[in-house]
Amino acid sequence: MAIERTFSILKPDATERNITGAINALIEKAGLRIVAQKRIRMTRDQAETFYAVHKERPFFGELVDFMISGPVVVQVLEGEGAIAKYRDVMGATDPSKAADGTIRKAHAKSIGENSVHGSDAAETAKIEIAQFFSGNEIVG
Ligand code: CMP
Repeated sequence: MAIERTFSILKPDATERNITGAINALIEKAGLRIVAQKRIRMTRDQAETFYAVHKERPFFGELVDFMISGPVVVQVLEGEGAIAKYRDVMGATDPSKAADGTIRKAHAKSIGENSVHGSDAAETAKIEIAQFFSGNEIVG
């Protein structure tokens, strides 16, 4: 399988509980390499752009409010089949359905406050990475 890059966010419920290191340990244990990382506060504009695909969903307002409620850590992860691999490591969106050993099973609080985001496909990974990182900030 090809070496890929995916985009990750450690969400405000993770920074609030000071568990970003614990989550990074699970990411690295899975064989993914953190090739870019920064802690930021998303603006409302950034969050609305990032989640534009969910604009018509009933939870959109709640989702945006949550994502700007505290710091987040944005990351680029690299590895073999990184997009699918990270989705496996994260576990199901709803933590009550997440498999044992996944980040969301171990750490997520609810379907909304679910600790991590990961890109769902190669094209979205490219767009999401470009929203938060310039090329020279990614060091593989
Ligand atoms: P994420 O992978 O960041 O992509 C979209 C997010 O919407 C998802 O994780 C969840 O955190 C959030 N989400 C999905 N369904 C719901 C819901 N029913 N209520 C609140 N948030 C949701």
